[in-house]
Amino acid sequence: MSGLWWLFNVLAHLAWLCSGLVQVWDIPGDYCRTRSGGCCPGRIDQCSVPILRTLCYCDAFCDRRENPDCCPDYHEFCLGISKPATSPEPLQITGGSLKTISIVCSKCVAIPGDPRRTELICEQEACLIQPDLIEQVNRLELGWKASNYSDFWSKTLQEGLSLKLGTLEPERTVRNMFPILKIYERSSIPRSFDSRQKWGEWIQPVRDQGWCGASWAFSTTAVASDRRAIQSNGRFQDVLSVQHLVDCTPRKKEGCKGYYLDRAWNYMRKAGLTTEACYPYTSGLGGEIGTCKIPKSFWKNGIIQSSVPPCANQLARSQPPYKIKNVEYDIMHEIMTNGPVQGESPIMKIYSDFFMYRGGIYSATRLRPSQPTGFHAVRIVGWGEDYVNGSPKKYWLVANSWGPEWGENGFFRITRGVNECDIEMFVIGAWSDLRKRNKGSSRRRRHKNLVY
Ligand SMILES: *[C@@H]1O[C@H](CO)[C@@H](O)[C@H](O)[C@H]1NC(C)=O
Repeated sequence: MSGLWWLFNVLAHLAWLCSGLVQVWDIPGDYCRTRSGGCCPGRIDQCSVPILRTLCYCDAFCDRRENPDCCPDYHEFCLGISKPATSPEPLQITGGSLKTISIVCSKCVAIPGDPRRTELICEQEACLIQPDLIEQVNRLELGWKASNYSDFWSKTLQEGLSLKLGTLEPERTVRNMFPILKIYERSSIPRSFDSRQKWGEWIQPVRDQGWCGASWAFSTTAVASDRRAIQSNGRFQDVLSVQHLVDCTPRKKEGCKGYYLDRAWNYMRKAGLTTEACYPYTSGLGGEIGTCKIPKSFWKNGIIQSSVPPCANQLARSQPPYKIKNVEYDIMHEIMTNGPVQGESPIMKIYSDFFMYRGGIYSATRLRPSQPTGFHAVRIVGWGEDYVNGSPKKYWLVANSWGPEWGENGFFRITRGVNECDIEMFVIGAWSDLRKRNKGSSRRRRHKNLVY
């Protein structure tokens, strides 16, 4: 990163929550040089100097390929190898002030003191990318692989939880919604199904919410867009506007901090949504929301008023959402008959290893905090079976909203039939309301199956 006076190469070995170990390659200062006894040959565990509340070493053993823990001046002082051109300039601390810098994802403060040495205190924050967790997942052959994402590197887990997810736990009224009754032959349900194969381009591609906790809006609009295309037999294929939902749903302008799915659907039922082309997404970078460009006065009492931007005079509305019973085959039947699960915006409990998912059939490892850490809304578009370590494993095929670079081209597969991460717990669908509602049309009837 240009503009920094120095570059820290840090092996982020931040053990989850507890340990304060940060291994540092390059914090400028005299360590081996000032150590009584200087450098040591071979492996001598006492040949160490304190650094950042841990120790660095001046023995020949420190230079292992895995996990080097040499003091920053080891190469220069002990081996006489001058630093490479990219090496950091010495840290200068002036006038006793504290400077804040970032090491990987943690904020560190340099403490003025011995001018030959720099001490830093780092926040003990968990990183979004945890290299040791990636390694563990990949070693254990769990049926899925984890990887580093350069986009996520340098972010804290907390940033991931608040800005990559963004759905609030359903309120009690919603949790208690009565699921619809489905009647079908189980044998009519195939072993695998992919909405994209059945409905082609009517199914929306994966989008990217950026750094804004708006998975609630992305999953809702994607499901609504898909179902609208299916229901209208391809007549309406617009991508519906996420920003419209983000800006205009009645809440306290909290930015991209998550929202309730039922209220999103409710807004779509009453107001309707314009298209992405008319009202493009802008919150992905800063996590800031804008002022609502299609305020309530446009659609008051179910009547579209005159002063509408031309592209917004036909708002896409939905009927009230309905809940699908948390029965695997009910959900499958719903997807294959009515649309990618559309409408299916299941709420998923998120474990921290999910961010690092690269491919395969995910199940939370619970290697790290055993508590789920956040809620996410996604769009289930199909299902299938795959062999994992020689035996068949059932999965859901799910679209995420972290762009096509993440996971399997933006999608992920997750274990099916065991309510993994609660994904089968709260599945909802909604029909589009394709009736025209022009200026002067009468107020809509209340829908018979109104659930709210
Ligand atoms: C992860 O990716 C970032 C950016 O590409 C890179 O700087 C970092 O070293 C990588 N970390 C690991 C553990 O691979």
